[in-house]
Amino acid sequence: MINFKKIIAEKIAKAVNLEIKEIQEYLEIPPNPEMGDYAFPCFRLAKILKKSPQEIANEIKGKVELGTEITDVKNEGGYLNFYINKVLLAKTVLTEIDEKQEKYGSSTMGKGQTILVEYSSPNIAKPFHIGHLRNTIIGSSLYKIYQFLGYHTVGINHLGDYGTQFAKLIEGYKRWGNEYNLDENPIEVLTQIYVRISDLCKEDEKVLEICRENFKKLENGDPYCLDLWTKFRKLSLKEFQKIYDLLDVSFDSWNGESFYIDKIPEMEKRLEKAGVITESEGAKIVDLEDQNLGVCMIRKADGTTIYATRDLAAILYRAQEYEFDKCLYVVAYEQNLHFKQIFEVAKFLEIPEKCVKGLEHVRYGMTRLSTGKMSTREGTAVKVDDLLKESISRVQKIIEEKNPEMENKEQEAEKIGIGAVVFSNLYNNIIKDQIFDWDTALNFNGETGPYVQYIYVRTNSVLEKAELVPDLKKVDFELLTDTESIKVISTLYEFEDILKAVIDKNEPSILARYLINLSQNYSNFYNENKIIGDDEKLTEARLFLNKSVGIVLKVGAKLLGMKMPNKM
Ligand code: ARG
Repeated sequence: MINFKKIIAEKIAKAVNLEIKEIQEYLEIPPNPEMGDYAFPCFRLAKILKKSPQEIANEIKGKVELGTEITDVKNEGGYLNFYINKVLLAKTVLTEIDEKQEKYGSSTMGKGQTILVEYSSPNIAKPFHIGHLRNTIIGSSLYKIYQFLGYHTVGINHLGDYGTQFAKLIEGYKRWGNEYNLDENPIEVLTQIYVRISDLCKEDEKVLEICRENFKKLENGDPYCLDLWTKFRKLSLKEFQKIYDLLDVSFDSWNGESFYIDKIPEMEKRLEKAGVITESEGAKIVDLEDQNLGVCMIRKADGTTIYATRDLAAILYRAQEYEFDKCLYVVAYEQNLHFKQIFEVAKFLEIPEKCVKGLEHVRYGMTRLSTGKMSTREGTAVKVDDLLKESISRVQKIIEEKNPEMENKEQEAEKIGIGAVVFSNLYNNIIKDQIFDWDTALNFNGETGPYVQYIYVRTNSVLEKAELVPDLKKVDFELLTDTESIKVISTLYEFEDILKAVIDKNEPSILARYLINLSQNYSNFYNENKIIGDDEKLTEARLFLNKSVGIVLKVGAKLLGMKMPNKM
């Protein structure tokens, strides 16, 4: 595709002594199209050149040569506004979409680089809560976008499948296992047993001691403990898989915390060698007080490992196994300190510099249901698979009311119900806390997944109604220069930059917002222009634009983790 921004930057570079790349970074998109398509803020150079922005603008303007791509340049209030050739823009965008179809926006920019994305990571024998849902959705989307941009991408589910809680659970199960039925709602039952044994531990120091013993036994591979642990793990994974199936999410690696146990000694050896481990009341720690990060525990006084220990072993393993360029941890912001600590300690693991630099905590905020708090502790936990199913059944009801004759109602309801939940988790900046509210998420006219799906379906029904597959060769691009068409075309043109911005900030909400913007611009185009009319040439051109919007909406939605329905 023609890179208009770069062409403008090259022209400016002829007039001022700046790198083309730098100029490109300065170029802005003006708030309204009357002010041009790109604007160069001359005040940025005022200090260096010791001239007023106006003077600089005039000077550059005098030297810039227009051409096929750039049709005009105006000096306004210290900005240089550039106007690009709209016919050429339409041609370049629509030709590219026609050629690449559902690969439109993809790139090879990531070639040769490996990105690990760690997401979901629920805890065995504990509920998969609404935070894990958000994190699964965010991580899976980032995974797909990196992959689309040509990166070698590895999705990791860092299961919480290790720790003292298992030792307690084993003890509880040993005592009361025959009172419970693990077949139906294993996670709920395991949680009940866990609460019961934890209470008993609080009352009776001796029981707590037995549990501690169990943990040591588990670490040493005792068959009874290991058997139960395996059983709990399997049962939990089966439950989690139901959610992953509904979301259509997958992983390349399921290496959870337990996977790293035998990799801990090597990790410790390296820290010892670096001389950063000290003893404190029998425990092994790395003191990070100088960095204002407290202390990072490596081994407790009783010799057992903790969460951070396993994370450090995981960093070492991943650096050796993948030599990653980035390792993203999609984890709630509550674990901020933990990640700051382990990233600091990772500097002493003797792993490649690029790996140390590539460690990144992608933080996200809390979700609350509008009907109340949603945390395990409060006992009002909503099961995530129930939430997803409820979304689907609410959509089914809406369909029954609005369009009972619809084909494949069930499949379509699933796409819309899941799409609504996925989109609502990606629409706000991920760092923000959010409230999940059914009416907002399922509003077909709001800034929602169903709205984007609805617009997509509309592009399809227009094509169906026209009974014609528009052909690029027949498109007269001159006919697409009205305000609404241009707006849609410029938005389509932006798509690749949007994807780059997503990975630049690890912020999928940029793409979610883009899809709303594209949908709204299409909607204006649809309302202002008669797509199927008497003028054959005009119909062909508008239909082709209509079809292109459908393609880009579908590609974008897929990258967020949403499927498009055929009817709505
Ligand atoms: N299992 C943890 C939890 O549910 C999240 C794990 C995050 N990943 C990590 N490498 N520490 O809170």
